[in-house]
Amino acid sequence: MVRVNALFVYHFGMIRSVAFLIAVILLSQTQSLAPYLPTPDDVVDRMLTLAKVQRGDTVLDLGCGDGRIPIRAAQKFGARGIGVDIDPKLIETARANAKSAGVEKLVEFRLEDAMTTDLSKASVVTLYLLSSSNAKLRPRLQAELQPGSRVVSHAFSMGPDWPADGLARFVSARGDEITLYLWKISG
Ligand SMILES: C[S@@+](CC[C@H](N)C(=O)[O-])C[C@H]1O[C@@H](n2cnc3c(N)ncnc32)[C@H](O)[C@@H]1O
Repeated sequence: MVRVNALFVYHFGMIRSVAFLIAVILLSQTQSLAPYLPTPDDVVDRMLTLAKVQRGDTVLDLGCGDGRIPIRAAQKFGARGIGVDIDPKLIETARANAKSAGVEKLVEFRLEDAMTTDLSKASVVTLYLLSSSNAKLRPRLQAELQPGSRVVSHAFSMGPDWPADGLARFVSARGDEITLYLWKISG
């Protein structure tokens, strides 16, 4: 009996160690694509307008912060929204914000890495990351989004090899000079 117990404790300990090691490996592979800096509300509206978001769209924000872009897409246009972020506190905040805004049935927030998250449901992808992060995401955006999908980036381009199909330059309500980029996925 004592031997069975000892074996159980040994195996349970091994499983816990292996699980811990896997968690550490997975976390260390998650790369930060940008620090948290929210897009001002008036700029969010301009991003959604540039992408011509409408009911029937699914707006995916890669690095969603407090969830304001998917939430606004649902509130203003009746679109579906998905947000992914690697910061669990921001995902919690985004879920609470969706509830306060009364759109929790239309939006979904996931604690996931933007580099590996499923893009297949998105008809609009929004980004406020960095040029280097856009460059990393670009191959997946081009390969995995459906024809007709749109990508909008606040402030950062995709580099010279993928010129934007649309551009908006304006001064925000806060007085900042803003550039938004739009790409359309062709068939
Ligand atoms: C500049 S903020 C933009 C927040 C929001 N999209 C907005 O425009 O208000 C960038 C966000 O990306 C998140 N982020 C950074 N690396 C990420 C990754 N690998 N996967 C998912 N989110 C990531 C950060 O936690 C942060 O919330």
